[in-house]
Amino acid sequence: MTTGHLDKVALDMTAQAGAEALFKGVPHPKGRKPFPGAICASINDEVVHGIPSETAALKDGDLLSVDFGVRLNGYCGDAAVTVPIGNVAEVNRRLMDVTREVLDIAISMARPGVKWSQVAARMQKHAESAGFSVVRDFVGHGIGTRMHEDPKVPNFVSRDLLEDDILLTEGMVIAVEPMINAGGYGVRTLGNGWTVVTKDGRFSAHFEHTIAIVKGGCEVLTRPR
Ligand code: CO
Repeated sequence: MTTGHLDKVALDMTAQAGAEALFKGVPHPKGRKPFPGAICASINDEVVHGIPSETAALKDGDLLSVDFGVRLNGYCGDAAVTVPIGNVAEVNRRLMDVTREVLDIAISMARPGVKWSQVAARMQKHAESAGFSVVRDFVGHGIGTRMHEDPKVPNFVSRDLLEDDILLTEGMVIAVEPMINAGGYGVRTLGNGWTVVTKDGRFSAHFEHTIAIVKGGCEVLTRPR
């Protein structure tokens, strides 16, 4: 299957639901072509913003990350998942599992009164103690009537976060999206202006959910039910 086919399926389902695909047509920050896909399809060393294509056929051993967002009835949802294609190398399967666990840690800790730096520290520790690294250049975000709202929601602890921490409060809605690399955290953008890849060529994984902070915990709004 090609990632271009997956994109068509996503577009059809979005239209059928009466929703709006949020990624398609997003303007490029530096004036290049708008994003052409409904989904981001990032394969192997591609971290985020992979462009779906009719010529990108999936093959045995690939790690595919699909990121997708819609607006329905005025509100946005944003989620991502990484799936193995056929038999993937043990290290890459572990990368995928650990990245999912990093998101699960955030979901289990998020509740009113918690500072985000406490959550981010645990996320980072889990990734790094497995021998992986947390991407620094891309982070989660607030989300609501628009896909990207304040605050920025990092998956690691920095001086910036400690100085300007996020206190989780009831009613906040955030998209949490750890991007974890098998090797170093360095990334670069390809010549198409969009696709972000690891600098060292090793694989990357990405999981995301949109969560609402509610009394005593959080509700995962993008979990299938
Ligand atoms: Co997002």
